[in-house]
Amino acid sequence: MAKTYKIAVVPGDGTGPEVTAEAVKVLKTAADKFKFKTDLTTFDFGGERYKRTGETLPDSAVEEFLRYDGPDTLPPVRISSTELTQVLINLVTNAAQALGEHGVSGGNVVVSAETSFDQISFAISDTGVGMPRDVLERIGTPFFTTKTKGTGLGIAQCQRLVGKAGGQFLVASEPGKGTKVTFTLPVAPTAR
Ligand SMILES: Nc1ncnc2c1ncn2[C@@H]1O[C@H](COP(=O)(O)OP(=O)(O)OP(=O)(O)O)[C@@H](O)[C@H]1O
Ligand SMILES: [Mg+2]
Repeated sequence: MAKTYKIAVVPGDGTGPEVTAEAVKVLKTAADKFKFKTDLTTFDFGGERYKRTGETLPDSAVEEFLRYDGPDTLPPVRISSTELTQVLINLVTNAAQALGEHGVSGGNVVVSAETSFDQISFAISDTGVGMPRDVLERIGTPFFTTKTKGTGLGIAQCQRLVGKAGGQFLVASEPGKGTKVTFTLPVAPTAR
């Protein structure tokens, strides 16, 4: 069965309605060609409504917009899902272990991904123990570890897999404050 996308249309005022009408035409043509359906709801947020009601975008509208469909995927990248999973597991494990090393509970690990024109940038940051410069300089050297039960292969494997996929791997860290590992992956050419 064809998928139906629930789309909020907010034309606003001025040239907005004209431009939005064109966008809706394009969307309908694409829907016919690629066999999906659209369920459009038009909202009157904009200057005219503001003049009438004094309201810009009430919280209730934000809540409601969350029930509509948005772009639900990052663009494809040229790496196998097993390899990407492996990279993320290594980095999230390191981040979680770095929190534990404070000897106190708490702190956090944040994983994020954002797209720019031709790459996706992933970041794993933690508010853990951080690394002194001499450790930072040696990470990624196979078997380098400061952990009693570490094998010292996690970062080396991440660097290898990200490098093979054509990406960059960067680590920034401050002792006592935390660590941020960023890696990029180029968007697959067919997706651009
Ligand atoms: N998020 C981090 N915070 C603080 N130190 C880190 C972090 N990530 C890595 N390190 C340091 O880098 C070293 C190397 O990390 P790597 O993941 O390569 O090996 P490991 O975690 O020691 O062992 P394993 O092979 O089990 O992953 C760690 O021993 C630790 O000292
Ligand atoms: Mg590790």
